Order: sequence, then structure tokens, then C-alpha cells
Amino acid sequence: MHPSSLAKYRAFPSVPLPDRSWPDRSLDHAPEWCSVDLRDGNQALPQPMSIDEKLEFFDLLVRVGFKQIEVGFPSAADTEFHFLRRLIDEGRIPEDVTVQVLVQTRDHLIRRTFDAIRGAKRAIVHIYNSTSPLQRRVTFADASRESIRDIAVEGAKLVKELVPTVPETEVLLQYSPESFSDTELDFALECCHAVMAVWQPTPKKKIILNLPATVEWTTPNVHADQIEWMCRHLQNRESAVISLHTHNDRGTGVAATELGLLAGADRVEGTLFGNGERTGNLDIVTVALNLNSHGIPTGLDFSDLQSLRAVYERVTRLSVPERQPYAGELVFTAFSGSHQDAIKKGLDRRAREHPHTPNLPWGVPYLTIDPQDIGRSYEAIIRINSQSGKGGVAYVLDREHGFDLPKSMHPQVGKRIYDLADAHGRELSADEIRDSFFQEFVNLASPLDVIDYELIHQVGERGRVKCEACILLHGQQQRIEGLGNGPINAFVHALESIGMKDFKVTDYRSHAVRGGSDASAAAYVQVQHDDGRLLWGAGVDPSIEMAGLKALVTAWNLFRS
Ligand code: KIV
Ligand code: ZN
Repeated sequence: MHPSSLAKYRAFPSVPLPDRSWPDRSLDHAPEWCSVDLRDGNQALPQPMSIDEKLEFFDLLVRVGFKQIEVGFPSAADTEFHFLRRLIDEGRIPEDVTVQVLVQTRDHLIRRTFDAIRGAKRAIVHIYNSTSPLQRRVTFADASRESIRDIAVEGAKLVKELVPTVPETEVLLQYSPESFSDTELDFALECCHAVMAVWQPTPKKKIILNLPATVEWTTPNVHADQIEWMCRHLQNRESAVISLHTHNDRGTGVAATELGLLAGADRVEGTLFGNGERTGNLDIVTVALNLNSHGIPTGLDFSDLQSLRAVYERVTRLSVPERQPYAGELVFTAFSGSHQDAIKKGLDRRAREHPHTPNLPWGVPYLTIDPQDIGRSYEAIIRINSQSGKGGVAYVLDREHGFDLPKSMHPQVGKRIYDLADAHGRELSADEIRDSFFQEFVNLASPLDVIDYELIHQVGERGRVKCEACILLHGQQQRIEGLGNGPINAFVHALESIGMKDFKVTDYRSHAVRGGSDASAAAYVQVQHDDGRLLWGAGVDPSIEMAGLKALVTAWNLFRS
């Protein structure tokens, strides 16, 4: 922002609450949850959901475990009205789920709302009117505090009058001083008290007082102070459920909600993945999984977050950002080499310890939760770009493709593949990593190739074999033979017999390739050249002996490439 623009902004006033208690508390239980996806979320969509899409989303919210779902603003539009009618008439609302309907404190809208809920077993009727000085001045043409409070009172009276007209429905009552976040606290309190005076809540039949951060104007600590101030000053506090409804204008909706809960709130309204007006509503997924990550049950099940995200993206036509906590595509991906290495060590250690230690506390560097707990897999954790370390490539080859490279081979393979990622200017997928590994390090056949071989075990000489091989060297086919302690050793002697003496084998490993459709063996041979350089080559073949010979040939060829 240009400095000259700053003159039009003002600091946000703090709340006089010197003995605030929320900073010393910690979260130890979950709040009541109310999804407002089908109302606040839906109203913010460029293309709102159709009735069928809303029905599908409603079922999804039920499956997640929401017991309170704001289903719309039925007096505002026919689609909203008919959606609720279908939920009720088709018996789609489970016994333990309460639908919530929003309505402004206006006579005809409240009457229409009662038509919409008729026949429901239980419903929360949620009335609101805007209370902030800004709204009073700009939207309501300098309306006085008294006239705004009276709007709330008149609405509350009409609701009270209409409740007996739906005798088959248990009606619960909710009031929001909309724009609470920039309303003078004493006036927000006055409106809440005025509505409570009409509805006469009791500890058995509580009012829900929803205190929305309709616009997030300031820092989460001030929000927490506002909530604690309200909780302390509210008369008959035990007859009210204090509800939070944060938006995300400053990007701190989750923090504001968490601090608001510390400050004494009982209930949270929000949406999946934070869909909602402007920068969105509170992301309930994040708050709930944050609680889970501290071992606190929430009653909400996000163990299959990927499927939820798929339905959400289809019906809202929005996409979940790649860095969205928990749900984003990249949030369990480490690009930095040191992070990859630490994650690999953490996961490997856990794999060793966990079987022997039930309830082993989670402890993997850089990962706040076990990705598997929300339907993500370890395989997706590590991806490779030019910033990654050597261990990352080996990790992908191991976990994704079943190649367990010797530790001292990691730097050689890692460097080559990072150079390729650098040249491409992007990350490489797991399949591209495998293809590059094969292209650069497996079964290289020029200038030397091994076409065929036969091993003849030497009778009476344990372990000694003769290797008769047909090779191609610089395009010339030759037959060679040599004796040794095992196939590799015998093949080396066969090569020496035709003058190829400038190298020696310094290490050798082999294993069956895990998970491959064709049962292959992988072998790795390290060769030291006369000039002191060490290089690894790999061979893959159905025969473990041939894999070893190919690995040796590859290493030898690498010195010549
Ligand atoms: O953000 C808000 O203030 C609202 C109210 C209607 C609760 O959505
Ligand atoms: Zn809202």
C-alpha cells in the first residue's frame, strides 16, 4: 500500500479487560459444531448449488458427523425453501440432526420461514440484525441504537408468537447481532439482553447467541477479548450457548475461533475448507483436525478428507488451494532435502517401534499428524525437485518402485536426478524418477554389453565357478571366460583375460524388486577405476546372476560416458 493511502485507516480499539483469563487456558474439549456450508457458503458461490447438489452436500455433512446444519435462508429464495421442504417431506433429516434456518428480523420473512420448517422434528430459527455503528450509519441511514435494538426485539416477539403454530416441531432459538465484531460491546450486550428478555431462555432451553466476526477487522486476541467480555457480562449466562462465527478477512479466522473458544464460547459455526463470503468463513476442517492433533475428539470424521474434498470441489465448483491446511494437495509433501531426510528417518523409526509400542505418540519431523489418519498416503509425501536432497530420490525409488539402493549409491543417483529436475525446471513425478534412474543407471549396454553367459560350478571347489560369456565390446562380439568365487568375480576375471584390467569391484548388493508385476531381481555393483574414482551401476533382470553382470557392465560403461 502506498504510504499516502494509510491516512484513511485507523487502529482498531482494544477491549478494556486487564484481567482477561483466556491466555492462560488451553483447549481440552470440542465445541458444538454447526455447518453453514449450505447457507453462508452457498450464498458466496459464483454458481450456487442446485437442489440436488445441496441434498448431496447435506448427506455428506451428516456423514461427517454434523448435528446442526444451517440449511439456508428459506424465505429468501424458492430454491432454498424447496430444498428444506424436500429434506423434511422426504424424511432425509436424521433423528439426531437439527436443521437451522436463517432469517432477517422482518415480519413477512419470519412468517415464510415458519412455513418452511413445518413438519421438521427440530429446527433452530436463527434471526439476525446488523448492529455496528458503521452499519447503523451507512446501511440504516443513521438509525439510533434504540431503533436497531427494537428491530431485534420485534423480530424476537414475532418468532415467539409463531412457535406455537408449528406444534410438531421443537423450535430452538438463535440470535445474531450481525457485525458484532465492530459493534460497541455494551450495545451488542444490550441487544442480546433485549432478545433474551423476550425469549426467556432457561438452562434447559437455552438461547444460542451467535457473535459473528461478520468482517474480521482486527487481531484474534481482540476477538477473544470481545468474547470473554460478553461471557462475563451476560446475565443468565447459563441459559445461553455462546456461538462463534468468524470470517477470514485478515487470514486469521481459525486463530480467532480457537482463541474465542479459550475465551468461553461453546459453539462454532463454519464451513468445510472455509468457503464463504469474500475470504471465506471459518474452515471447520482445520479447527477440528487441529483439536484432533492434540488428541481431542471432535465428533467430526475427516478420515477420508480426499473424498470429501472431491465432492466439495464438484458441487461448489471451487478448488481447495494446494497449501490449505490438512486438505491441500501439497501439505504432506516435502521438497527440501533435509526435510525429506528427517521425514524418512521419522517414518522408518516409527515403522520399527510402532509394532512393539501400542499408542506410540506421533513424532515425525515436519508432520503434525499422520497423513494416513486423513486418508493420505506416505507415498505422496516426498516429491523431488532441484532443491531436494540425495535421500529423496532413493526414498521414492524404494517406496514407490521397490528399489533399495545401497546408501553409498544415493549421492550419485540423487545428484544426477536433481540435475535433470533442474534442467526441466520443475519437480519430477515418481514415474519420471524411475524412468530417469533406468535411463542413467540401469542395464547400460554400450560400449560393453553382456549378451549371454553360462556358469559352470567347479566340482569339488566350493563356491568356485567358471563364467563363459558372450559380450559385445565396441560393436565386436567376443566369447570370454574366467574363473572366480561367484559369478561376478568369474566375469571380472573373464574381462581381465582380454586386457580389461583398469578397474576392480568394491561393493555388490542384490534383492528381489518389491511389488513389481514381473518378478525381477535388482543388483548394484560399485566399481573403482584405476584413477581412484568410484561409481555404482545397477542391473535389473529376471535372473539374479544376470542382474549382477549387467550391474557390473553398467558401472564399467559409466566410466566411459
Ligand atoms: O457473517 C455473519 O454475520 C452472518 C450472520 C448472518 C450470522 O453470516
Ligand atoms: Zn457469515
